[in-house]
Amino acid sequence: MGHLLKVDALYKSYGKEPVLEDFNMQADRGEIIGLVGENGAGKSTLLRIIATLNRPTDGEVYIDEQSYGKNYKKLRRKIGYVPQEIELWEELSVIENMRFFEKLSHENRSVPELKNLLSELHLEKYDTKVSRLSGGMKRKLNLAISLIHEPELLLLDEPTSGIDLKSRIEIGKFLKGLAGKGALIIYTSHDMTEIRELCDRTIFIGKDPFYKNILTDG
Ligand SMILES: Nc1ncnc2c1ncn2[C@@H]1O[C@H](COP(=O)(O)OP(=O)(O)OP(=O)(O)O)[C@@H](O)[C@H]1O
Ligand SMILES: [Mg+2]
Repeated sequence: MGHLLKVDALYKSYGKEPVLEDFNMQADRGEIIGLVGENGAGKSTLLRIIATLNRPTDGEVYIDEQSYGKNYKKLRRKIGYVPQEIELWEELSVIENMRFFEKLSHENRSVPELKNLLSELHLEKYDTKVSRLSGGMKRKLNLAISLIHEPELLLLDEPTSGIDLKSRIEIGKFLKGLAGKGALIIYTSHDMTEIRELCDRTIFIGKDPFYKNILTDG
């Protein structure tokens, strides 16, 4: 069997300056991978390309050996993505947001199932309007939404930025549980302690060797 994810000779530039240049990686079910690099290194760009939301200038991404080319709509169903910038309906409640995204997901999840997912993430304010949630609670809700369709590949762009220590630990445990059930999780963070604790391996991206050295210095 091939890899769940294969990124092959990826190039991306928005203008003349390349952001990604011949980027390659492979990853398998059950792994938690930390993506590390300076601001502007291209981490979010890479995650958006893997999430099928942005197209590479050149190169190809494969899930289970199927290239994105003409299969991306089908492959998208295997992917969960939490963007760096929170995207929610501020005027709807927590559970209304879950129901909205459940409708988009082509899955059938009952309200009790959705509430169960929220409660696993310790977000039990089902009827609170999103505009009244704290930043950290919104991040948890975004994470819950990305999990509605039970993705095999979960892409998290700084999921714990602004999240308090207790919630970080809860999210970390939850992600380890998901990986234990066979999900592949790719994760960006600027918190090296968190990366070391949570991730099975790290991938350095970008041009600033500072980050690479931090990783190899242990
Ligand atoms: N839509 C866009 N149009 C033009 N340039 C972009 C666009 N998106 C990103 N860039 C540029 O691409 C580079 C990589 O950005 P990206 O957001 O992927 O970095 P990052 O590693 O996620 O950074 P951070 O750690 O700050 O989140 C930056 O120089 C950024 O200015
Ligand atoms: Mg980013």
